[in-house]
Amino acid sequence: MKNQINDIKNQALEEISKADTLKKIENLRVKYSGRKSELTNVLRGIKDLSVAEKKEIGEFGNLTKQAIDGELSKKELQIKNEELKNIDEKEKIDITYPGEKFAKGHLHPLTQVRYDIEEIFKSMGFLVVEDREVEDEFHNFDAMNMPKDHPARDMQDTFWLKNGYVPRTHTSSVQARFMEKNKPPLKIISLGRVYRNENSDATHESNFHQIEGLIAAKSGEVTVANAKSIISEFMKGLFGKETKIRLRPSYFPFVEPGFEFDASCPYCKGEGCRICKQCGWIELGGAGMVNQNVFKAVGFTEDEFEGFAFGFGIERLAMIKYGIDDIRLFHAGDLRFLEQF
Ligand code: PHE
Repeated sequence: MKNQINDIKNQALEEISKADTLKKIENLRVKYSGRKSELTNVLRGIKDLSVAEKKEIGEFGNLTKQAIDGELSKKELQIKNEELKNIDEKEKIDITYPGEKFAKGHLHPLTQVRYDIEEIFKSMGFLVVEDREVEDEFHNFDAMNMPKDHPARDMQDTFWLKNGYVPRTHTSSVQARFMEKNKPPLKIISLGRVYRNENSDATHESNFHQIEGLIAAKSGEVTVANAKSIISEFMKGLFGKETKIRLRPSYFPFVEPGFEFDASCPYCKGEGCRICKQCGWIELGGAGMVNQNVFKAVGFTEDEFEGFAFGFGIERLAMIKYGIDDIRLFHAGDLRFLEQF
């Protein structure tokens, strides 16, 4: 009987040492220490033994049960500690650990520049207006003093739609649209997309953005000097207070006289650098006194009003402001570029 008990003990201790979950410990407790366990079963036979044997085997049996129970408890504690340690490892919070950085969205650089431009002009009392991107021939060309056979039409490569409409080639069409409904005095800017049928390269895209400006009032009330100071304020607001501007004579059919505008290079302040191609000035856009034919096209009497108009490419302004050398980056959707703004 002693041997039987010893075998049970050895088997129990071996199985306990291998157990690695609380569930297994629980099962072993039932198997080796519970009321229906093998050991209890064997010990039931004691009643048939002699008194001396009863004492000896009884004691041995008790010690064995204690040993098994002891091992079970020890192992149980060990497993519990192990589990707690794992939870600690997994759920440990280190409050000194730097927080996770969330990627925050932001406005596209072109939109940022667009808002900057709008703010500058609003502060000078301009109204911001918008109009359609698909124009009829009249508003895009004829009303801008570019009738069908006018050679100036070749200045702008045009996408023609089958129905005779055009994705507007410039925002100047908004001048005509606005003056059909509003008589001078007026001060407006209009920003939006324009389309030209040209191949794209580092400085050209078939789809880009322009800002158009128009000031008109009774004849004699608007001069080139007013316009120059407004554009100068605009450039200072966008590129910094020290920015200078200059006008050069140029030709656009919808203005007379016409100019091209340059700003002093915001990088080298006129010294000459990579951005301004060593000349110290950067060409920005066109401007001029509104041609009387434009006023006539929208139904005004010749010489009743006088005005000044200007137009700039927004991409070009953004490229200079941020030192970007390829216009195609704006629409490429490359996050490595966009995340820099
Ligand atoms: N519409 C002209 C262009 O797209 C720019 C311009 C606007 C020039 C207003 C003069 C006056 O090139």
